[in-house]
Amino acid sequence: MSKRKPFVGGNWKMNLHGSEAQALASALNAGFAHAAQVDAAVFPAFPYLASVGAALAAGGHKIKLGAQDGYFQPNGAFTGEVSLSMLKDVGVKVLLTGHSERRHVLHECDELINRKTRAGLDAGLEVILCVGEKLEQREQGQTDAINAGQTALGLAGVKADQMSRVTIAYEPVWAIGTGKNATPADAQAAHVAIRRVLAGLYGDAIAQGVRIQYGGSVKPANAKELFSQPDIDGGLIGGASLKAEDFLGILNAAVK
Ligand code: 13P
Repeated sequence: MSKRKPFVGGNWKMNLHGSEAQALASALNAGFAHAAQVDAAVFPAFPYLASVGAALAAGGHKIKLGAQDGYFQPNGAFTGEVSLSMLKDVGVKVLLTGHSERRHVLHECDELINRKTRAGLDAGLEVILCVGEKLEQREQGQTDAINAGQTALGLAGVKADQMSRVTIAYEPVWAIGTGKNATPADAQAAHVAIRRVLAGLYGDAIAQGVRIQYGGSVKPANAKELFSQPDIDGGLIGGASLKAEDFLGILNAAVK
């Protein structure tokens, strides 16, 4: 059994208005009974970070507050961006970087993702760096090469002593929001390959400690089998994190 504590995140994306987001946070507080065995975080939209954070605090911070994005510059003329110290100010503990929607819809490149990753770690946050191949890349047998490139470029300049605050999320682009998830065996194989990249960069001891989440159409019905793979250390959940019952089912499935 892995010594890594499973970590499950709920990426709410551009969903849930204020009262819905707060109500979901409160329902998760009430229903999540496994904080000792599973780390949990939710990632609401920016305008509701403070109110969701307050709701999570009322439940004793069993569930961490995360941000879906954050800019690497400390302040200044960057219209529309939000700094990491602003995020920390409203209680954010975890930062997502490299999500496929930011890569492929908002056209973020590996260099920008790397700057955000390093800035997040330098600011003392935990960072979840997301990687994953597109369908045509999988069909051309490039899955491991794409993941290796995104992992190495995303982590360029990250120091070994910062790696305890890094999680990798393997999210195959073709599995996000499509209802098609990677088979547990395919996901496990991709995670092993990513861990090998981490071992090449930081050595085996550090690589063995890094949590690698799976993301892409995780549901209560398939979570247990995915999470029982030896190198799958929890998940990053989109659609199924928007309903308390489903997300709680997934959180419970991560208990070893
Ligand atoms: P779905 O769970 O909706 O496929 O989304 C996954 C995801 O993108 C989480 O970041």
